[in-house]
Amino acid sequence: MENNREQWSSKASFILAAAGSAVGLGNIWKFPYIAGENGGAAFLFIYLICIVLIGLPILNIEILLGRTTKKNPVGAFKTLTNNPFWKYVGALGVLASFTILSFYSVVGGWSLAYTYEALVGTFNTPAFANPSTAGDFFNLRNSSPLWVLGYHTLFLSIVVFILLSGVRAGLEKASKFLMPILLFILMILVVQGLILPDANKGVSFLFQPDWSKINGQTFLLALGHAFFTLSLGMGAMMTYGSYLSDKDDIVNASYLVAFLDTVIAILAGVAIFTVVFSSGYDPTAGPGLVFHVLPPLLSNLVGGYIFAFLFFLLLSIAAVTSGISILEVSVAYLVDERKMSRKKAVLMMAGLVYLGSYSMCIVIQCSF
Ligand code: PFF
Repeated sequence: MENNREQWSSKASFILAAAGSAVGLGNIWKFPYIAGENGGAAFLFIYLICIVLIGLPILNIEILLGRTTKKNPVGAFKTLTNNPFWKYVGALGVLASFTILSFYSVVGGWSLAYTYEALVGTFNTPAFANPSTAGDFFNLRNSSPLWVLGYHTLFLSIVVFILLSGVRAGLEKASKFLMPILLFILMILVVQGLILPDANKGVSFLFQPDWSKINGQTFLLALGHAFFTLSLGMGAMMTYGSYLSDKDDIVNASYLVAFLDTVIAILAGVAIFTVVFSSGYDPTAGPGLVFHVLPPLLSNLVGGYIFAFLFFLLLSIAAVTSGISILEVSVAYLVDERKMSRKKAVLMMAGLVYLGSYSMCIVIQCSF
């Protein structure tokens, strides 16, 4: 085991960083629209089963593998077995994290862009009169390479800046600073949602099951989302676990991470659906729910300027704290296995992600 590896300063820091990884676009952008399209509470129920029966045990195992070996996913398997097969399983994790960040950073860029648009008051212009015009605005902006790549570059630069500072001064400090802000903003948005007229319709949409929408596909979707939201299967939790001290117990920590992640997804759903229902709109608007439907609805509320800004700031913070954990997987791999300096590893991986994102931009534009 390596002794000079950086470590979290406390178990609480690890929990915050791991929760920061788990709570991301998956909770605020993806969960509400897939729940909306797949039976509301019925989906939530299946998703919770997946989290408890499959997600939690795997989360424990990933963190344990990291903490025991003090290595990145490839190094962890190499340490544990001589069978080369497992090394490739670890390598798949590194590859997956790289691929995920290529699309994640594009959506992270959109979030930053909309935080800026909210701040300068664009949501109060006729372009945001209703979800349909707002959708046109989004598509128009999204067809401009300069806009997409500019904000994408900004997003990746923030991630790079944090990672260059290392585990304690970068990952830990950023999570300790950003996660409380995220929770605070979310509470404001939930409270303002709950006091809207017809807020109860939004809440019962999330908590009253529509079983007619459930089929085999729903189970797969819920399971896939459980993996994605807990940052499982690509070594992020293993890498974060590798910075844990041996004396820190991991079972409680992973319960807490899964609990925070689930509660935040549900609260984001409450914040979003109360607004959607109180404005009489369709909760099944798909991926466009957050970028097409919400901006005009939020800005139409009393105090809407500030709520719209807070919402996109929340989304951006969630994206950044997850983005750093995704890139850290491949950085840890290069530092541990290829003996690269942290600086070189971060810049090289960010450069590769940047190139990968060009093609992702085209794919996302086509499917949105
Ligand atoms: N859990 C993050 C989210 O819900 O947005 C996404 C994610 C982070 C996936 C880290 C994978 C990962 F390694």
